[in-house]
Amino acid sequence: MAERISETLQKKLSDRMSFYEDLGIQLFYRDRQVAALPETEQQLEPAVTIRFSSPNMQKEETLPKPAGKPALRVTLPAMTPVSPKIASLPVAAGPSLFEAVDKIANDTLPKVREDLGECTRCKLHSTRHKIVFGDGNPKAQLVFVGEGPGADEDAQGLPFVGRAGKLLTQMIEAMGLQRKDVYICNVVKCRPPENRQPEEDEVSTCSPFLFRQIDVIAPKVIVCLGAVAAKTLLQTNRGISQFRGEWLEFRGRKLLATYHPAYLLRNPPAKSEVWKDLQKVMAVLGLEVKKGKSN
Ligand code: URA
Repeated sequence: MAERISETLQKKLSDRMSFYEDLGIQLFYRDRQVAALPETEQQLEPAVTIRFSSPNMQKEETLPKPAGKPALRVTLPAMTPVSPKIASLPVAAGPSLFEAVDKIANDTLPKVREDLGECTRCKLHSTRHKIVFGDGNPKAQLVFVGEGPGADEDAQGLPFVGRAGKLLTQMIEAMGLQRKDVYICNVVKCRPPENRQPEEDEVSTCSPFLFRQIDVIAPKVIVCLGAVAAKTLLQTNRGISQFRGEWLEFRGRKLLATYHPAYLLRNPPAKSEVWKDLQKVMAVLGLEVKKGKSN
């Protein structure tokens, strides 16, 4: 069973994350290697070990183990810091800060797919058949984000290919576009069993890959299909009806949330609302807005 890390270490890690955030770096993944260690290796170390480095000094610090608890060992190897601010901070294993920045600047969809790998980071992997990464134009001006694959998507490895997908295709074509012009992806890349909503831990584990996809594609407009996509990108718990059809932002890009096509299949009168939303998108993309396409 996983142990909680000490408050001191939590504070240090939290400060460090804030520093990265100040620099605009927000992509952190769970460490699969630690998770893969045998439980004994994770838990039987006597104390928490942190290694700091600065240009003139390198030291290793051992924090007391929490009373009555087996402690985690955390070793942060040294690198050569280049500014006083960085020099005073503990530094991490893996790529340096500058390699990380470079990685973000040179990111591509194939690299994101490669990093995702045959993902086992959350429990959805155990029931999925195929990972549904995303599909479409890697330079699309318009990205649609859904919730997660259903049965058809899970079988084919492609997003929105079932009944809801056919409706989405019609919506895209009504806008004067084709599927190959846009990019379509989901918040989670594996099908939740029984088509249930993805759970919080599944969303938080998978969404960094979605954020990377969006950053790489750099679309002019993101359309969130349904509440799960909207809540994930906007980091809000407000109900979608409170902001549906409004122009909002995700990392400086225009974002509009509308109803999910599956909801429209159950509630066809809502199609006219969605069509109004899509017309707003068309106006921003410079597409000719046609009349009478609400059904
Ligand atoms: N619903 C979604 O949210 N995504 C899909 O890919 C298919 C159905």
